[in-house]
Amino acid sequence: MPPRSPLADPAWQYIEHTSMEDFSAADWAVMNAQRTIFTRNHQADLVIAMLRAGEGVPSFGYRISNFRHCLQSATRVLRAGHDDETVAVAVLHDIGFDACPATHGDFAAALMQPYIGARNHWMLEHHQIFQDLHAPHYPGVDVNARDRFHGHEHFAWTAEYVAKFDQDAMDPDEDTLPLDAFIPYIHRLFARPPQPRANALWRSG
Ligand SMILES: [Fe+2]
Ligand SMILES: [Fe+2]
Repeated sequence: MPPRSPLADPAWQYIEHTSMEDFSAADWAVMNAQRTIFTRNHQADLVIAMLRAGEGVPSFGYRISNFRHCLQSATRVLRAGHDDETVAVAVLHDIGFDACPATHGDFAAALMQPYIGARNHWMLEHHQIFQDLHAPHYPGVDVNARDRFHGHEHFAWTAEYVAKFDQDAMDPDEDTLPLDAFIPYIHRLFARPPQPRANALWRSG
């Protein structure tokens, strides 16, 4: 018999069925109660572990790693006096860049969606498009790609984030805070009550 995965809390229960079709309402009540506690206790540490996994990932050409770029962006945001949410968003904004490059903005937006406001969520989703303005010699780039969003309420913030805190945050000589400086911000972000849409998505799986 292959071993069971250990329970996060030895006092918790396994649901013995191996098909969700066989789960009763009572089984789901147990699962969801345990899931809520598990998420509250572990999500921030799991996200930090994902971020930290990038620490040893080599560069494919930039002078600093994506991990250090995240720290540099967050350092600038912190020193510019932005709020706690925005500091956490900055340190996590490219958490998917190495493993999910083409859609890493969506990756970060989805990760943080239950815990952040619309302003930062929209910024995360659109920051890749807004970067095109800053890469005029990228092959086939449309530097005006962001223009279709002119008039959007979060246009200005997204443009500012990309210009001041992202597109040139790749300097190995820049004074950059270590990950430890941002861990409390990540913990505070994921300690927020998740917004309703996330709860709806937690119905199964
Ligand atoms: Fe990015
Ligand atoms: Fe970035």
